[in-house]
Amino acid sequence: MRDGVIYLDNAATSWPKPPETFKAMEEFMLSVGANPGRSGHRLSIEAGRVILEAREALAALFGVDDPLRIVFTRNATEALNLVLYGLLRPGDHVITSSMEHNSVMRPLRDLQEKGVELTVVEASPRGELDPQDVEGAIKENTRLIVLTHASNVTGTLMPLTEIGQIARRKGVPLCVDSAQTAGAYPIDVEAMGIDLLAFTGHKSLFGPQGTGGLFIRKGLEEAIRPLLRGGTGSRSELEEQPDFLPDKYESGTPNTVGIAGLGAGVRFLLSEGMERIRAKEEALTQTLLEGLSDTPGVTLYGTCDPRRQIAVVSFNIDGLSPSEVAMALDEEFGVLTRPGLHCAPSAHRTIGTFPQGTVRLSAGYFTTEEEIGMALRAVQELAARARKGGSTHG
Ligand SMILES: Cc1ncc(COP(=O)(O)O)c(C=O)c1O
Repeated sequence: MRDGVIYLDNAATSWPKPPETFKAMEEFMLSVGANPGRSGHRLSIEAGRVILEAREALAALFGVDDPLRIVFTRNATEALNLVLYGLLRPGDHVITSSMEHNSVMRPLRDLQEKGVELTVVEASPRGELDPQDVEGAIKENTRLIVLTHASNVTGTLMPLTEIGQIARRKGVPLCVDSAQTAGAYPIDVEAMGIDLLAFTGHKSLFGPQGTGGLFIRKGLEEAIRPLLRGGTGSRSELEEQPDFLPDKYESGTPNTVGIAGLGAGVRFLLSEGMERIRAKEEALTQTLLEGLSDTPGVTLYGTCDPRRQIAVVSFNIDGLSPSEVAMALDEEFGVLTRPGLHCAPSAHRTIGTFPQGTVRLSAGYFTTEEEIGMALRAVQELAARARKGGSTHG
């Protein structure tokens, strides 16, 4: 337990980070500091090396053979906007699911107003997506399938490998929002048939906030327009944007200090091993699910099967609103959670919890079984009080 709090909001951003992350950031600020790929002097070259090493670590994690096919962005939201606004044009058809975060849904609703045709495939009330429904939605003019890898509301993992095979067979690119899974669940872009992988740096990749990126399969860069154009430090004689990766999509001075931290975070998780990280988070999720399912007055959402979800657990207590529960957990027990709609109103409509939402508990790699036990006792106490008197107060 850190400073009197039990941090169970890792799905919003992971905390704490491994010391490797902030040591790399400090090292960059103290000893490098220069602008990468711009000036040609030793410190500029060193800054470029820091960025390349981060790309290499991410490529190793995602099974990408060419690290230059990974483009850095500020977060998953920017990576998703880059794909959606860069690729889709009026008259194109795009398929998504009803479990998406607003960083997919809002750009798509805006593009729909601009003449893009949208199909939202409905997931089950437990947040499960049927690959056959996705296949059935594909049409002549389908230009893209964009799906979350795991719901940030229920934690449910989507059947991406099956959908990847369908997408390949039908010749439709598959874009995956891995905000919740990158670093927490194995991802191999080849084995899973992923053409575009949007990731965020500050969750399970252990990087700082303000980092993220996009893997782009060879050839797709020809169809995706950049969101920004400007200085890249390359082909400076041209007034047109370079057409090669990563420069086409990386205009302006990058967040080099953040990328230094992200690279160190990814190297940390590679050295710990994906299997070990997943096994620990699965065990914590199992403890949470078992404890909550045995608590009278508590409703759980999703599949409630730790093998089919990530470390995200949503629940409600009868008679209390999610914000009342979250406030009592914070103020009385130091348990930090996230109540409400989690930027995913469509997912809450799907599972029947719109508009009040749920309380979300999200453990991380550094969460302990002891902390999970304390959080469970806190929820059990609140549920018992609500059954007796309808209040959060003891
Ligand atoms: C499923 C999902 N997609 C996208 C995002 C957006 O990530 P970011 O805020 O880092 O851009 C999140 C963040 O909560 C998410 O959970």
